[in-house]
Amino acid sequence: MTTQEIIELFNKYVIANYGRLPRVIVKGEGCYLFDSEGNKILDMFPGWAVSAIGHCHPKVVEALCKQAGELLHIDNTFYSEPQGKLAKLLSERAFGGKCFFCNSGAEANEAALKLARLHTSQEKYKFITAEGSFHGRTFATMSATAQPKHHEGLLPLLPGFVYVPFNDIAALESAFSDEVAAVMVEPIQGEGGINIADKEYLQAIRRLCDENGAILIFDEVTTGLGRTGKWFAYQLYDVEPDIMTMAKALGGGVAIGAMMASEEVAASLVPGKHASTFGGNALVCAAGVAVIEAIEEENLLQNTAELGQYIKDKLEQLKQKHSIIESIRSVGLMVGIQLNTSGAEIVNKCLEKGLRINCTQGTVLRFMPPMIATKDQIDQAIEIFDTVLQENE
Ligand SMILES: Cc1ncc(COP(=O)(O)O)c(C=O)c1O
Repeated sequence: MTTQEIIELFNKYVIANYGRLPRVIVKGEGCYLFDSEGNKILDMFPGWAVSAIGHCHPKVVEALCKQAGELLHIDNTFYSEPQGKLAKLLSERAFGGKCFFCNSGAEANEAALKLARLHTSQEKYKFITAEGSFHGRTFATMSATAQPKHHEGLLPLLPGFVYVPFNDIAALESAFSDEVAAVMVEPIQGEGGINIADKEYLQAIRRLCDENGAILIFDEVTTGLGRTGKWFAYQLYDVEPDIMTMAKALGGGVAIGAMMASEEVAASLVPGKHASTFGGNALVCAAGVAVIEAIEEENLLQNTAELGQYIKDKLEQLKQKHSIIESIRSVGLMVGIQLNTSGAEIVNKCLEKGLRINCTQGTVLRFMPPMIATKDQIDQAIEIFDTVLQENE
């Protein structure tokens, strides 16, 4: 089919709920995408952060092919090795908790919210979340997402959600009461514009949760599995959650989400209270195991930390050159460039020159390079970005 024919299929048969870029992608390999017109695109926002170890990582592809030949799906009536193995690998790299598997970030957060209510007493029904957060698109996770633009046309929200300004300890203290079941927060807000939590803020949340018998949930759907240079962002803060959620990078490109809870909290999730038909099937868990092994074998946490500093320094240099850049906010390979103007056109122009980046909140450009990227690839990305900014002036 031609590019135009494929786009027409979408126009006719696919619901138009995404703003799509006018490219048909036919192949992904490492840090690159290839479109149907033969263009090669350097991908600095791979799969909305899903393809964190690069597109079609050979170890993930091999594990998927092997597993597909043995067992694709087995329901959770039975045990299967890949799920048990993945849970162990995750637990050992985090706070020693137990895992529940599902298929997306929103589902992981749904599970976390339900578990927080199940584990706390009946009068505790409130959830505190932070302004600028993004927790998903289901009704509960949309209600947790403290951004009015995501609620428009969908009211009323689920009751019980209380919003506080991000990084504001006083506001959090005054929002707390005996009725709070949990606080859910992203250590680094992604869709909200790469907003980085202060250490004192996360420490204060931990303290307030402990004092009030509430659960602390970290949403690590974007930050998890190495993006910050640590397995999980909370490890940069020395503040442990009771529940943590993850998704994007975990499957290396296949759909998987996971909720990890401390052993004590996990005990409240008993048969009949929550489930997922597809959750944690053999295929996706085999991919998850391969992702973790690849990160370790290829030393990708260290590469992420080093490249993160490298790209930050390069962008700080660009900031001196281009007054459109107001500030750089970054941790590891989670990079936000705050502009003083709209970023949409810059994203389009970068794509025309073979660079894929993203814009969120209208004025924040996001670079989230694959963890396998090299300095050369970062240099190429910066060069294209520099040219586009120059042409934009
Ligand atoms: C921090 C965070 N939580 C949850 C979600 C929802 O994940 P999903 O789209 O897989 O449901 C996202 C998606 O971008 C996210 O960034």
